[in-house]
Amino acid sequence: MFLGFDLGTSGLRMVLADASGQIIESVEHHYSVQTLHPGWSEQDPADWIRACESGLDELHARNPQALRQVQGIGLSGHMHGATLLDAQDAVLRPCILWNDTRSHAEAALLDQTPGFREQTGNIVFPGFTAPKLLWVQQHEPDCFARLKRVLLPKDYLRLWLTGEAVSDCSDSAGTSWLNVQTRDWSEELLAYCSLERAHMPRLVEGSEVSGTVRPALAQRWGLSDSVAVVGGGGDNAAAACGAGSLQEGDGFLSLGTSGVLLAAKDGYAPRPESAVHTFCHALPGQWYQMSVMLAATDSLNWLARQLGSSPQQLTRSLPSLSGPGSVAFVPYLSGERTPHNDSRIRGAFLNLDIANEPQQLTQAVLEGVGFAMRDGLEALRSTGTELNRLLGLGGGTRSSYWVELLATILQLPIDLPEQGDYGAALGAVRLAMVGVTGATPEAVMPAPPVAQTVVPHPDWGAAYSDAYQRFRSLYPLLKQVNDNA
Ligand code: XUL
Repeated sequence: MFLGFDLGTSGLRMVLADASGQIIESVEHHYSVQTLHPGWSEQDPADWIRACESGLDELHARNPQALRQVQGIGLSGHMHGATLLDAQDAVLRPCILWNDTRSHAEAALLDQTPGFREQTGNIVFPGFTAPKLLWVQQHEPDCFARLKRVLLPKDYLRLWLTGEAVSDCSDSAGTSWLNVQTRDWSEELLAYCSLERAHMPRLVEGSEVSGTVRPALAQRWGLSDSVAVVGGGGDNAAAACGAGSLQEGDGFLSLGTSGVLLAAKDGYAPRPESAVHTFCHALPGQWYQMSVMLAATDSLNWLARQLGSSPQQLTRSLPSLSGPGSVAFVPYLSGERTPHNDSRIRGAFLNLDIANEPQQLTQAVLEGVGFAMRDGLEALRSTGTELNRLLGLGGGTRSSYWVELLATILQLPIDLPEQGDYGAALGAVRLAMVGVTGATPEAVMPAPPVAQTVVPHPDWGAAYSDAYQRFRSLYPLLKQVNDNA
């Protein structure tokens, strides 16, 4: 038996899988995000531990025998968060999350500092970890003075589970302190943030054992006394393991809170100027590239909240695909990463008409997200990365309208997996299986069985291609409005 924990932004998902990697139990325990000021996004690490305790209680109550047979645990989590600890490993302040943009000025400063793009292979985005530390140093000097350790969110969970301060290369690649090619901390980049290697966790690969569960915890939940915890991965790398995206050309589209296009890479070929992310994969000797748009289902959820409706109700109200609507929506509700790297830009509805109903607004939102995903695809292409088909993952793919729209806008077939859980928690389980049994990733991490392939609509490709060109012309206009505001 194996356990996979995925520390998501809204909750901790925990899955129990048998020796073949088949999920037999899954539980999820939620926690909140605190937004004290616009652009801030924080979480209390104690909430993660509480969620993990409740999840283990529940798994234990449901299946105590299976828990006794657990051999390994894999961890995955939201990337880039800064969990700051003192000399006793006590949490100094709430964790600053991946979607917190308060440190945009610090990010721009580091991004212009020679060495950062060269060694990390990426733009220093405002959501990444390093600029957050510059912000804390300047705005909370007392906290910074007591700082002894910086951990990524899932690695704080590991510290609690095993007592070991360890991270894996895929998650660490999102800090802006890792040399993403050599897969080691850069002391030069850490020094720019007044930090040293001693502040950082030891590094392992995602499928390497990082420690074993502490005896007190093992006893509490009836685990054996030698349960290994493997490195695991940042949520996107772990999701790639769950989706079987391991080799060059394999990739997925994830329509979750954020929208991601991910392509596995056999080598390290960064192109930071494209605003594409190049990170270590959770498997040794592999990397991946990805475009990230920040508000995918988040845009639809926002609209549903404003209309007093639900995302499902809104998408169900749409008829079959019938070409681009007249209303345009730009989904930069939280700023944008790929391709603009602009945390201050904001979204817009355009061409609103007195006759418009929720249905037209919904169509506009789905199209706007689709066009932003196409921007991501073009950014990936500009780096030489080609995707011939995509596996569709994430809650947004439950809308068949949205999937057909995306296939048509991207002009790529989208494979929808059979019902099941192919996300980061499964990826974490699979990394534990590789780490504990020594099986090869290829044997343990197949792509999921495809239930349906959605192809681009034969009639609307050209119309959506024109609409995409119109969408592209909107960013410079919005930027002008934003700069003058
Ligand atoms: C990736 C990113 C998000 C988070 C949250 O760069 O910021 O995908 O990992 O899930």
